[in-house]
Amino acid sequence: MSDCDSAGMLVIGQPTLSAHSYEDLAAMTTPQLLTKVPGPQALAIINADHRVTSPSLPRAYPFVPARGAGAMLEDVDANVFLDLNAGIAVCATGHCHPKVVAAIREQAGKLLHYSASDFYLPIYAETCAVLDQIVPMQGGARSFLTNSGTEAVEAAIKLARHHTGRQNVIAFLGAFHGRSYGSMSLTASSAGYREGFGPLLPGVLHAPYGVDDTDDYIERTIFKRLAKPTEVAAVIVEPIQGEGGMVFPPPDWLAGLRQLCDTHGIVLVIDEVQSGMGRTGAMWAIEQSGVEPDILLSGKGIASGMPLGAMIARDELMTWPTGAHGSTYGGNPLSCAAALATIQLVRDGLADNAAKVGEFMVTSLRELADRQPLIRDVRGRGLMIGVEFESSAIADAVQLVCFRRGELVLRAGDSTIRISPPLVINSEQAAVGIGIFEDVCRDVANRQFEG
Ligand SMILES: Cc1ncc(COP(=O)(O)O)c(C=O)c1O
Repeated sequence: MSDCDSAGMLVIGQPTLSAHSYEDLAAMTTPQLLTKVPGPQALAIINADHRVTSPSLPRAYPFVPARGAGAMLEDVDANVFLDLNAGIAVCATGHCHPKVVAAIREQAGKLLHYSASDFYLPIYAETCAVLDQIVPMQGGARSFLTNSGTEAVEAAIKLARHHTGRQNVIAFLGAFHGRSYGSMSLTASSAGYREGFGPLLPGVLHAPYGVDDTDDYIERTIFKRLAKPTEVAAVIVEPIQGEGGMVFPPPDWLAGLRQLCDTHGIVLVIDEVQSGMGRTGAMWAIEQSGVEPDILLSGKGIASGMPLGAMIARDELMTWPTGAHGSTYGGNPLSCAAALATIQLVRDGLADNAAKVGEFMVTSLRELADRQPLIRDVRGRGLMIGVEFESSAIADAVQLVCFRRGELVLRAGDSTIRISPPLVINSEQAAVGIGIFEDVCRDVANRQFEG
């Protein structure tokens, strides 16, 4: 499938696709593997890819998708997989939801790009107006749109510093906020993300995540020993740590941070890049704690796979002047069209479906944990679910064997399997998914993978 042409250029051919219609593929519940995976076409593409792409790309396992419908994906050898990843919690409305595709097509026929930084794009303002409606902030919100989650994080660091005139930012151990310099400096889920890249952004301090004495640590250690609160611009936190291993803080923990920020005039930034857009059964995970953020960050699921992020701030915080921040592509019209369709679908039932199917999956996985000693813990809210194993080697083995059985899951943290399906997944697909997961755990246990 891939080879060099007579001019020596790398040629990557067309995938083999099944005859399934979109509707047939979306309605399937069970993986259908026609070849061993990766199959021959996938192997050819992987070989070609390895010659021309950056070796930094982490690549979890050799999956080569060709098309998707709902919660099902077909690879380049026409093998059908059940997707419990959603492209790392991105394809919220499922793969190629007809309403999202129609919105993108319609917009593509009108206007592909005209930078909203220098000019006025109606669909950019429309997207910001919808975000203002759905964000849990009283008194109005304004948005700065980006191309990715990490750019939303960078925008938040800049706005918080600019608005407060303070330098320091507090983030949390185990956090993941992205890989650009500011975000990477906040990220503390793995030293590997930072290795070889220092020096990082100065003025970033880390506190323990989700433990009862976090506030105490910030007051007694950070404020007393490292930086006065009057020099702290922002606290940046995920309401649930995703990449760090699906870690849920205790019920009042976020309210404690809100109080601390109020006491010291610090901006509270809630990073919902992974947890937002209906994934936990509410539009935003922070709503479930009753806490109002000063800045809320969105990304991933917001546009069902089109590149978009948003830094949404309380109106009175947006004190930076004209020219202080911008982006050539941020809030691209196609991404905005996808976002408007996505938000409508999430409001019209997908968040509810995430709550319902998620509850079924978490309950089933907890029952499985009672039967399967390899599983240490099951954590979840809606379709943001983590299954923690005894060791990273076991989690890696579970991830790989799931792939070989046609089910896509992804490791997070040290030894947790992240289950974050598209929000359109139905109960039957979820039940099949749990059944495969149980078989895989049993097989991994029988082969006695060591930690
Ligand atoms: C909570 C959180 N913030 C920020 C990011 C960075 O987003 P992106 O990869 O789109 O830059 C991620 C990505 O996984 C994330 O999970």
